[in-house]
Amino acid sequence: MAPNDPNRVIIFDTTLRDGEQSPGCSMTPPEKLRVAKALADLGVDVIEAGFPAASKGDWESVQTIAREVTGPVICGLARCNRDDIEKAFGAIKDAPRHRIHLFLATSAIHREHKLNMAKEEILKSAVECVRFAKSLADDIEFSPEDASRTELEFLAQVVEAAIDAGATTINVPDTVGYTTPQEFAEVFGYLKRHVRGIERAVLSVHCHNDLGMAVANSLSAAVAGARQIECTINGIGERAGNCSLEEVVMALATRASFYGLSTGIHTTRLYPTSRLVSTITGMPVPRNKAVVGENAFAHESGIHQHGMLKHHSTYEIMRPQDVGLSRTHLVLGKHSGRHALRERIRELGFELPESELARVFEEFKTLADKKKELFDGDIEALVLRAGEDGFGPWTITQLATTAISGAPASAVVRVTHSDGRSIEKGATGDGPIDAAFKAIEAATGTAVKLNKFEVRSVTEGEDAQGEAIVYVEHNERSYRGSSISTNIIESSARAYLEVINRIESSRNSTRPTHAQLSDEKLSEANA
Ligand code: KIV
Ligand code: ZN
Repeated sequence: MAPNDPNRVIIFDTTLRDGEQSPGCSMTPPEKLRVAKALADLGVDVIEAGFPAASKGDWESVQTIAREVTGPVICGLARCNRDDIEKAFGAIKDAPRHRIHLFLATSAIHREHKLNMAKEEILKSAVECVRFAKSLADDIEFSPEDASRTELEFLAQVVEAAIDAGATTINVPDTVGYTTPQEFAEVFGYLKRHVRGIERAVLSVHCHNDLGMAVANSLSAAVAGARQIECTINGIGERAGNCSLEEVVMALATRASFYGLSTGIHTTRLYPTSRLVSTITGMPVPRNKAVVGENAFAHESGIHQHGMLKHHSTYEIMRPQDVGLSRTHLVLGKHSGRHALRERIRELGFELPESELARVFEEFKTLADKKKELFDGDIEALVLRAGEDGFGPWTITQLATTAISGAPASAVVRVTHSDGRSIEKGATGDGPIDAAFKAIEAATGTAVKLNKFEVRSVTEGEDAQGEAIVYVEHNERSYRGSSISTNIIESSARAYLEVINRIESSRNSTRPTHAQLSDEKLSEANA
């Protein structure tokens, strides 16, 4: 895939692959499909839908996205071995436009400590795997993992060999977030000068944010010739995350006269997409995050407010509506009709099919009975959480808690399983939430280690809805659950049950942890 316009930058979104690799950010297959559809609406060029060889569940979810999401190229990641490549191809092949993304580490550190392979073996393996992938698909991306710490001469050698073998995109990853803007521009300059045939491939950049420079490094690479930027919504990803899509896109758009580069992103979809990914992954967006943070367009100081009243351009380089942020102070209430709700939902950047709207309207009416005024945050939460009920096998059908000061709190919970079981258990605890968590564990038969528990208010007011988020560990894996209600004991209990549902749903999945997903298999295969 090479755009005709030499100044057009391909946006390659890896929220569903590198983003999902961040601890606690795992998504269920229906959640991944929802995010993939939102990414297509956002206008990304390529969706890296997952790592099909990682587990049966990942494979199926990539295949569903390949079959159901139209527009972008659908890409699957593979290590440099036949099994991974065949699995990746099998999962993506039904997409009208599909890509296999191969990676193989090239740096001395990885060669010696991870792969135990010499330079010649790396070169041979890279060529073999690109050739094999090319026998299955036309669109092949090759990534020399840890490129930014690889000897330049060797990097150029591998890149040239990969292009000769059929790679159409060469991605240069700063896997550990180590490089700097100037240094990285020099890497791209070096490759352009020293790789014979470099013009036959699209140069791509993939940055991690360990030193907070992922966006700056990606922009610098674009100035130096990269025409694909790999990024994630809200910058989620391994460790400190990846290059943030909304930041890099808005930098290119806002400073278009400086960069002279364009993307195909519909920027007004940035904010709703960011909210969707944050809700689904449970990864909150920091208030001061550029472009999509709550404070990104807030002006507190008197001098700034005065300037803004005179003209918004005094202190604003982008307009909130450019990124799809259209907050109002209008409130809806129990007398508001379906039409008013539909309009507000639209203004917030969401489009719901009639069937979904009918359900959200029902939930809106129930909430309006409990809460006098419904703010934008309430409406957004109703929309983003549409379809949340019915996730996983367990449902809470009854919850009662008592808390008297000076005595242990108690909880009784009744849960039902999709197989028809209905179980009631009671427990005491240090407060009603702790008691409810213990009762849920007893009823479902799944015990977890609670690592973190957060409650935050979604909107303002005494009757504001509270969002509860729980982070737990079970069998050395991290899980996260969240829920929302005007009653925080209820939202906490439902968030806890969501975690147990996630554990139960992933029980049949053999997905290894990310550390286990290193190139061990490759080194074994080459041994
Ligand atoms: O960071 C990295 O090197 C990667 C590769 C798989 C491209 O994610
Ligand atoms: Zn990465």
